[in-house]
Amino acid sequence: MAFSLHRLHLFLLPFLALIPITNSNLTKDYYAKTCPQFPTTMERIIVDKQMAAPTTAAGILRVFFHDCVVGGCDASLLIASNAHTTAERDAELNRSLPGDAFDLIVRLKTALELECPNTVSCADILAVAARNLVSMVGGPYYEVVLGRKDSLESRASDVAGHIATPYMPMDKIIAVFASKNLTVQELVTLSGAHTIGFAHCSEFSHRIFNFSSTSQVDPTLHPTFAHALQKLCANYTKQTGMSAFNDVMTPGKFDNMYYVNLQNGMGLLASDEALFSDNRTRPYVDLYAKNQTAFFDAFARVMEKMSVYEVKTGKDGEVRRRCDAFNNLKATAS
Ligand code: HEM
Repeated sequence: MAFSLHRLHLFLLPFLALIPITNSNLTKDYYAKTCPQFPTTMERIIVDKQMAAPTTAAGILRVFFHDCVVGGCDASLLIASNAHTTAERDAELNRSLPGDAFDLIVRLKTALELECPNTVSCADILAVAARNLVSMVGGPYYEVVLGRKDSLESRASDVAGHIATPYMPMDKIIAVFASKNLTVQELVTLSGAHTIGFAHCSEFSHRIFNFSSTSQVDPTLHPTFAHALQKLCANYTKQTGMSAFNDVMTPGKFDNMYYVNLQNGMGLLASDEALFSDNRTRPYVDLYAKNQTAFFDAFARVMEKMSVYEVKTGKDGEVRRRCDAFNNLKATAS
């Protein structure tokens, strides 16, 4: 009997890995009684902001990702630095996160505090804002369960090593994602977020200026695209705000064009291009380039998975009164 149970365990192992990661303390209708207007207030303010500042969607999606991978989806990235601590938000890797994303969170939190004080966490606000905005710009809709608490810590020194950078070798990028329990396919799927938004010239300048002793530009870039980027970024060291669309073909639309671009030498970052040139990731690039439904289904599933990554519940966190500060000032000194 013991032998057969052991065998059964081995048999189940591969299937266990397929069970979606859930947090039993989170529920779909967490605010149904305490803040019934939560979904409508969120939607109204998000629509207004996205109409006024169309770059908000990309900004929020990136903020959400950078928050989740550093200590879980707990709004630690929204905390502002103070005299005692340099917060996550001021880590080198987070400096380019756009002001419009943080501004949206302030608007949402202010409105919700007036309607239902001390009730809705900043971590839930961020998770729902990312979902609503992805869907608003054309991407898939997915379920976001609620009840996350906000972190009691936020340190810039915790960020490095948790976020991939454009010139990291693919082995390292895969390892960074694996450390978050994300597979190679999920890395390719999540990178599809680069179907919207911008990157500053400094993030890809090495690919277009003095690339090597034999070639001015990275030969994997389409020549016309490379030339256009050289023109756009000609003065980037002085005009530090110069940026290019991540998806040059359909920049504001969440679709599968990012993957088609990769096949055509029009991936912007070195890490985007690497997804196409590496044998481990290319099959998924090809799959998503020809099948948008496959991409949308996979993106929805991985966002559901990431949205509950290491969330805090109960006494492990708090519902902040404002998203950029802990309720108890002493906590900031941690
Ligand atoms: C290999 C992994 C990744 C690398 C190396 C990477 C790197 C970058 C860089 C360098 C930028 C440009 C930032 C700037 O110049 O302002 C950027 C933008 C962006 N990233 Fe990623 N990223 C990766 C994965 C992801 C993932 C998994 C997501 C979300 C699920 C994401 C969402 C975004 C978005 C939406 C933007 C545009 C932001 C905006 O327009 O404000 N990225 N990324």
